[in-house]
Amino acid sequence: MPLDDFPRYPLLFGPSPVHRLDRLTGHLGGADIWAKREDVSSGLAYGGNKTRKLEYIVPDVLASGADTLVSIGGYQSNHTRQVAAVAAKLGLKARLVQEKWVDWPDAVNDKVGNILLSRILGADVRLDPAGFDIGIRDSWERAMEEVRAAGGTPYGIPAGASEHELGGLGFANWAREVEQQEAELGVFFDTIVVCTVTGSTHAGMIAGFAAQETDRRVIGVDASATLKKTRDQVERIARHTAQQIGLGRELRDDEITVLEGWAGDLYGIPVASTIDAIRLTAELEGMIIDPVYEGKSMAGLIDLVRQGEIGKDSTVLYAHLGGQPALNAYAGAFS
Ligand SMILES: Cc1ncc(COP(=O)(O)O)c(C=O)c1O
Repeated sequence: MPLDDFPRYPLLFGPSPVHRLDRLTGHLGGADIWAKREDVSSGLAYGGNKTRKLEYIVPDVLASGADTLVSIGGYQSNHTRQVAAVAAKLGLKARLVQEKWVDWPDAVNDKVGNILLSRILGADVRLDPAGFDIGIRDSWERAMEEVRAAGGTPYGIPAGASEHELGGLGFANWAREVEQQEAELGVFFDTIVVCTVTGSTHAGMIAGFAAQETDRRVIGVDASATLKKTRDQVERIARHTAQQIGLGRELRDDEITVLEGWAGDLYGIPVASTIDAIRLTAELEGMIIDPVYEGKSMAGLIDLVRQGEIGKDSTVLYAHLGGQPALNAYAGAFS
């Protein structure tokens, strides 16, 4: 059915801002580079990409009569922090499973940044020693059982809100928003660069842009370091979302591009190119990106422009998906 027919609970201020990165464009001496800012698109606890996905999930939460959102992520999950903020906004409880997705040595890794914000937002935060995995976890299902056993009514939101029936719709809508902003600004973004891990951000974009039948590339930059799992999840969610919004054709394989090369060996561990990209973006643009996700996709963008994979005549839109609160847990990477 058409995207407009899916119920949506507004959580954003409006369309996220789009602006040109003048000094980064000048520095790279080619491709015209712009950013679309999910990090400043809502007033909910520093925002980010999950808030946009949750706009399409909240109506289902409200219809279900649940009183507790149950979700999962790493200690420094941006996703669980946004779930906690949305729960607060709706007057619901949040029960969060925070797994040790990253073996990062900063002593405050489980105390500052996102996890601190989730605690301040009133969420019931429980640490779990399990490592990184983007799939459905037993610990998350057990948490729902525990909420039920205590007399509550849980509503489960999986990692990144990706493996949720409605998880791809938020970024299908993002694609439509881009088309409207292009008309207002008089530009056409022939290349989109987006960080991808649990997959529904990138997948939603693929489905949304496919509906426009324009000639543009949507390049996902893997930050999971488990490329096959992420690529499979992107493909599955993109095909599902395309069908949901009535695309009327199968997605072609060449519409699903996930590139590796900037994630390092492990999810959540910044590598030299991540730190360089964070510093460069900050010093040239005053724009802050994080060491887990956006620093990796920006490193990809920079290299693709330098290598000529993205041509000098391209106009590129970098999807800034938020994530800055995690920086506090990574002070050691900048000392
Ligand atoms: C800041 C940030 N960027 C990118 C991503 C990747 O998005 P997705 O999990 O939908 O692939 C996430 C979440 O995982 C995130 O928090």
